[in-house]
Amino acid sequence: MSTHASVTRMEKIVSLCKRRGFIFQSSEIYGGLNGFWDYGPLGAELKRNVKELWWKSMTRMRDDIVGLEATIIMHPKVWKASGHVDTFSDPMSTCRACKKLVRSDQVWEMLETVPWADAIRAAAPEGKPDAAALLKWATGKGQRIAPNLALVQQPAPILARLAERAAEAEASVHTLFQLLCTVSAEGPLATPCPHCGGELTEPRPFNLMFKTYVGPAATEEDVAYLRPETAQAIFVQFKNVVETSRVKVPFGICQIGKAFRNEVTPRNFTFRSREFEQMELEFFIKPDEVVEVQTGHLAKLAPGEVPSTPQPDWGWELWHKYWVEERFRWYESVGLKRSSLEEYWQKPDELAHYARATVDILYKFPFGTQELEGIAARGNFDLTQHQTHSGKSMEYFDQEAAVKYVPHVIEPSAGVDRLILALLCEAFEEEEVTDEKGNKEVRTILRFSPRVAPIKVGIFPLLKNKPPLVAKALEIQNLLRPLMNVFYDDSGAIGRRYRRQDEAGTPFCVTVDFETIGENGPENEGTVTLRKRDAMTQERVRIADLPALLLAQIS
Ligand code: GAP
Repeated sequence: MSTHASVTRMEKIVSLCKRRGFIFQSSEIYGGLNGFWDYGPLGAELKRNVKELWWKSMTRMRDDIVGLEATIIMHPKVWKASGHVDTFSDPMSTCRACKKLVRSDQVWEMLETVPWADAIRAAAPEGKPDAAALLKWATGKGQRIAPNLALVQQPAPILARLAERAAEAEASVHTLFQLLCTVSAEGPLATPCPHCGGELTEPRPFNLMFKTYVGPAATEEDVAYLRPETAQAIFVQFKNVVETSRVKVPFGICQIGKAFRNEVTPRNFTFRSREFEQMELEFFIKPDEVVEVQTGHLAKLAPGEVPSTPQPDWGWELWHKYWVEERFRWYESVGLKRSSLEEYWQKPDELAHYARATVDILYKFPFGTQELEGIAARGNFDLTQHQTHSGKSMEYFDQEAAVKYVPHVIEPSAGVDRLILALLCEAFEEEEVTDEKGNKEVRTILRFSPRVAPIKVGIFPLLKNKPPLVAKALEIQNLLRPLMNVFYDDSGAIGRRYRRQDEAGTPFCVTVDFETIGENGPENEGTVTLRKRDAMTQERVRIADLPALLLAQIS
């Protein structure tokens, strides 16, 4: 459940994102478009750094993964074969009163955070409804915040029904809400609309793919879809990659790119968007039977052992665990603490029908612990589907084992935007500091890892009206800018400039002062102060040493 503190924290993060140019609402001047977000100057740098680090760790640092960049619109048969046309849907309900659409499986979660539902819970301490308190609220504030709730519209009969069914209401808070929202005395109980308290319709499936038309005719024959995941392009191009690169199973193909889902209820800032980016890897492995024939056995893990260096005798279970561990390690390398993450093994009844196992990596967002990435063992479902629907063989000839097979796959699939949000939540901190005049103020800091920080170093001349200081600062800017993103700032007191960089998450600031230009004697000439955001310490370093010193911290 979201607490007041976590709601406030989230509001502060959203407001900082807007104020400092990390994230803006899309088309804001036209009132915005729900579920679509733009990244401002700092956000764009942050996102680029994150994608670059993922790409580098997947491709350049490994011999067994290659990259792909495919189109967003593909042949519609791709989505028939993958199952998305028939089954990629969420259950949706409509409010009979306000007509808003709600994802049926998220109603109760939404009701945890809406003020009118809080008022009902407050009027039912320890689950026991207080009829007088409910009546007072229904004839007062309830009329404004839940105008379509049956209790608000006709308090007397609804409270009478509640009294008759008190035992059911006390046994389940969901039933209490249902009793208070259902208009008719007969028939099944309804579920309340989180927005207005009206009755929701029964759930019905709603396909999440965005439809478009290819070509000018725009008939049903021309329907195409914006891809809802980047993964399918990898399966569809599997054969081309095998034939044109020197890859041998086990190997992976990875891709970063846009995906689109017409989410019923986009929410929690960028967490659930309608346009977002994914970083996906399809890691193709030998079927277990082939590994067994080839190596004589399948490797087993000792209790508590974590697979680290890939071995020829690994079956799918070890590869799956290996990728779970690799992905945790990577998240730590970009600045998410292990204690902020959780590992969730989907239960058998939660697994997609083709998945043998799926592990979700969850992040503890202020609004709840939620999925950042899923790592699924998908068997050979996707390649087999495309083989059947396209009529083209997806078999791979394994020279070592001298057999043909359709490879199996392990799929670590991450969302870029969710990770950006997690990094912002992880980095956000406020602390009380005392300024030079003894006044207390709140220092807002984004404690990004230097590797992802949008600006790596702020460069300041102590005074902007002293040409030798300015010239030296500009010289340092030119020295560093080919190597990293720098920000030159000469306006305001130096303390203010530090604060502005703290809010942007800049890990280092360099100040050119009178020592630098030798005005206080020769011993510190050619040195600057290097201020570290987290320690708030300042040390003198030689300008010539800056590139190596900073590069060591950010790479
Ligand atoms: N190919 C597998 C796949 O797409 P998924 O769990 O549906 O699996 C993978 O999506 C990741 O994509 C999620 O863990 C999440 O980080 C991101 N993602 C999915 N839907 C999203 C949305 N509506 N908004 C932002 N990110 C989303």
